[in-house]
Amino acid sequence: MLKLDKFKRISADKMSLHSYLCSMQGLIADIDLLEEEKKQSESCEYKTTEDDDSLAVRKLYIESYGCQMNFSDSEIVTSILKKEGFGTTSSPEHADVILINTCSIREKAEQTVRNRLNFFNGVKKKNREVTVGVLGCMAERLKSKLLEEEKIVDLVLGPDAYRDLPKLVKKAEEGEKGINTFLSREETYADISPVRLNSNGVTAFISIMRGCDNMCSFCVVPFTRGRERSRDPHSIVQEVQDLFNKGYREVTLLGQNVDSYKWSAEENNKARLNRKNGVDEIVNFANLIELVAKVSPDLRVRFSTSHPKDITDEVLHTMKKYENICNYIHLPAQSGNTRVLELMNRTYSREWYINRVKAIREILGDECGISSDMIAGFCSETEEEHRDTLTLMDYVKYDFSYMFFYSERPGTLAAKKYADDIPLDIKKKRLQEIIEKQREISLERNQANVGKTYKVLVEGKSKRSVEQMQGRNSANKVIIFEGDVAAGSYVNVLVTDCTPATLFGKLQ
Ligand code: SAH
Ligand code: SF4
Ligand code: F3S
Repeated sequence: MLKLDKFKRISADKMSLHSYLCSMQGLIADIDLLEEEKKQSESCEYKTTEDDDSLAVRKLYIESYGCQMNFSDSEIVTSILKKEGFGTTSSPEHADVILINTCSIREKAEQTVRNRLNFFNGVKKKNREVTVGVLGCMAERLKSKLLEEEKIVDLVLGPDAYRDLPKLVKKAEEGEKGINTFLSREETYADISPVRLNSNGVTAFISIMRGCDNMCSFCVVPFTRGRERSRDPHSIVQEVQDLFNKGYREVTLLGQNVDSYKWSAEENNKARLNRKNGVDEIVNFANLIELVAKVSPDLRVRFSTSHPKDITDEVLHTMKKYENICNYIHLPAQSGNTRVLELMNRTYSREWYINRVKAIREILGDECGISSDMIAGFCSETEEEHRDTLTLMDYVKYDFSYMFFYSERPGTLAAKKYADDIPLDIKKKRLQEIIEKQREISLERNQANVGKTYKVLVEGKSKRSVEQMQGRNSANKVIIFEGDVAAGSYVNVLVTDCTPATLFGKLQ
């Protein structure tokens, strides 16, 4: 039986307003997110397609788990199937094709998908015609095993194989099971214009690269997403311009390690670029954010995730130069101890990380938002090493963190080389200490904002009350205020009160 209380479906409104970079980690931020964080090991959240107003006879239902990149992929998949004449539905019972876009980052994420497949089995029993497909990271990791283990599944497609979907859906409708888990060195879906799902019409996410070439020992992503490749900057700027023309006012550029974005006309085998277009021959991440920032000063630019080993001063200086590049960096530390960082193969030390934070503070100042990901109880971590994580948090004063206990993933370097030897109760205890520490620091950081006025991009009505609106400041803090202003406009808000997770203010 599916335990519904374990699932949290994100409505369009909630998703667009509250989910954010954190969904990179398979966790959805919420206004009351610290409470949510406590529950994170029990809850698993997902996003679905909505009912569209098309007259299409055939309907597609997609349920997406995991990070924002996976959600973005679902927008590409929807676009591919729309071209084949599909409309979208919010109800699996009314769908002709049910797709589940999966995540493998932690064991829990995969278990959730297995439970959902059980649920869809019930749907399929009532409607034998429906095609069920598994997409994404779990499809890539388990390949044909999924077809063998889950009889309900008709299709298995990895993240680089979505162009094959129409063909495989057709075959499945003729009764033939299909699989494509080929990982590409080139695919970026640059030419596919995503159908925005769960959109608030103000903020949008854009994938600028795919895959990951880092081999963090705990992480399954390099195996499920393949080699790192950067998307053509022309297509990125074009997509941003289109979004701006449609009224969007904020874009978040997505990649597992955005600082290693690098595109060159020559390497990417394209014709020589014309400098007059504003695109140079080699485009690095600093160049890219500059190009995007120039689309309009009224368009906010964010990005995630920055890798501490790669974030450059050039990026920080570019952020300073453009008011519309937001003053916020998601800079996952994972651990505050150099020996553990070495075992994790993060390729930086505690000192290196601290130096990067110093550079951020020197160039962008104390108001720059910084957030992190932390893993508690990695292989052989001692109590003292765990305390180094807590002292790093004290030093950096993160505005926010996404916090997990270590979950061994088959095939990763850590699974091969190190024993997963920290007992679950100790992992949970350490995680709890990290969460408590973050709560204190978040409150302190938010209290420091009280009495100050911020430029806020309004995202829409607050879900707490119809009289309240909400938006974010440049540092990515959610601010709630009374008033009735159009979503997509900029307003000044004086912060009058706060919780660890939210600022409250008055329209100026
Ligand atoms: N590319 C990003 C992270 C992507 S995965 C980066 O390098 O920061 C998102 C987060 O999930 C990671 O930062 C890490 O904190 C967490 N994570 C990844 N693998 C994990 C595992 N096996 N167990 C627990 N947490 C994990
Ligand atoms: Fe995983 Fe490390 Fe790549 Fe992030 S940088 S996706 S943690 S391997
Ligand atoms: Fe994202 Fe999960 Fe894959 S975090 S990259 S969907 S393993």
